[in-house]
Amino acid sequence: TKTYETILVERKGRVGLITLNRPKALNALNTTLMNEVVAAATAFDRDPEIGCLVITGSEKAFAAGADIKEMQGNRFPDVYLDDWLGPWDRLGELRKPVVAAVAGFALGGGCELAMLCDILLAADTAKFGQPEIKLGVIPGIGGSQRLTRAVGKAKAMELCLTGRMMGAEEAERAGLVSRIVPADQLLAEALATAEKVAEMSAPASIMLKEAVNRAFETTLAEGVRFERRLFHAAFATADQKEGMTAFAEKRPAEFKHR
Ligand code: CAA
Repeated sequence: TKTYETILVERKGRVGLITLNRPKALNALNTTLMNEVVAAATAFDRDPEIGCLVITGSEKAFAAGADIKEMQGNRFPDVYLDDWLGPWDRLGELRKPVVAAVAGFALGGGCELAMLCDILLAADTAKFGQPEIKLGVIPGIGGSQRLTRAVGKAKAMELCLTGRMMGAEEAERAGLVSRIVPADQLLAEALATAEKVAEMSAPASIMLKEAVNRAFETTLAEGVRFERRLFHAAFATADQKEGMTAFAEKRPAEFKHR
């Protein structure tokens, strides 16, 4: 595999693991890290041997936000013309499911990165927040939109306007987090979850992700129609035949991901 400067990239069977690795800056998201995460995730997304991705950080920080020291001197025309932070949107366009494994700080861009993922597992040590307001700015990688959709207006407003951090329990209660796991089991749980997803039919998991995400983009009736078309299309796959035959024969399915 290619080596990177700010992330570690590993394959674990059908799972692609990306570990943010700027420990001295609490994994602050600088431009190099953004480009590397997007490149590594895109490569896994295109790799037929990979069925699911995991993005994680360290014990202390998933990511403490965009790199404040890097952006401090930015000026409007430059960031506007460069579409600065725009490349992060590519992560939301990945077709394969992505698990975020969050321990410690997930602040600002770190919280936004976690929310760009599909399954959000939190260690009991996780702390989420959008503290941009304390720096005189606002979120810039979708935080005001995705946090509001995840936890509702009241909590999103309060968190974004005050910059208060919320712990794992509150985040789970609010619907931001799929599950809380003990910190020392976080990566193992995330990999196990991703392996489970990666073993499913790849066309089905991609359809599923598309269908759930459609719920955030359209009306209920349109969403149900979209789901029905994909559901019917699933019957064109070898994996549907295998899945249903395996059930009838009382054996585990062995999907060909086709
Ligand atoms: N950018 C750059 N460097 C950062 C950073 C960031 N977002 N967060 C932490 N660091 C650096 C610190 O400057 C420090 O470096 P030095 O050792 O060189 O001084 C190192 O990481 C360790 O951090 P602390 O000493 O501050 O660690 P702590 O345990 O005392 O505090 C913390 C941890 C509460 C997370 C604190 O570091 C903090 O508040 N960080 C900033 C969080 C933040 O404001 N994030 C939002 C950024 S804006 C954004 O993300 C915009 C957007 O939507 C895209």
